[in-house]
Amino acid sequence: MGDQLEPDPTSAVPGALAMLAANGQGSRRRFLRWISGIGATISGVLVGIPVLRSFASPALAKPQPASWIKVAEDIALLDIGVPIRVDFLTDQRDAWVESRTQNAVWLYTEDGAKFKAYNGHCTHLGCSYYYDKDLKTFACPCHRGQFDVKTGAVLAGPPPRPLDELPVEIRDSSVFVSYRDFRLGVSEKLGA
Ligand code: FES
Repeated sequence: MGDQLEPDPTSAVPGALAMLAANGQGSRRRFLRWISGIGATISGVLVGIPVLRSFASPALAKPQPASWIKVAEDIALLDIGVPIRVDFLTDQRDAWVESRTQNAVWLYTEDGAKFKAYNGHCTHLGCSYYYDKDLKTFACPCHRGQFDVKTGAVLAGPPPRPLDELPVEIRDSSVFVSYRDFRLGVSEKLGA
């Protein structure tokens, strides 16, 4: 009978060491994967919150409040019975972009004491309108809209509502108008 070869215990040592080493490497890899997963989650949350807030905030933003604008220094210098246009700049926030916009109001008085002010945008699609001296009406060049100077009522064309009248205050002989924009192309006067 031939001698049976006994397994050499010393030959198993390098294999066990290799397995241990392999196990150690596997654990280290798992640990590193776990750490990098945690890191990615934390960075995702840190980056994601401001990004989500920046997208959500315009949707949650309240309508822009009206702002009082001085449109005439001295009521004594204003023409009676003839509207005047006053241009000015306002700060505007459109979604998450802030910008300066040129706006206008038309100011009208019949007696030099009571004033009417109209937002300078046509209520149809927002074009600037002008005063037609011959017809004595406001005229919009975009689609031939026409408005009454004394009331802002629509006289002709597609505008769906009168001109947007704005509150007026006289303070120490100066004229102030509470300016704001309204939704265009609709029959109701709704905040923009
Ligand atoms: S924008 Fe004025 S009539 Fe159309």
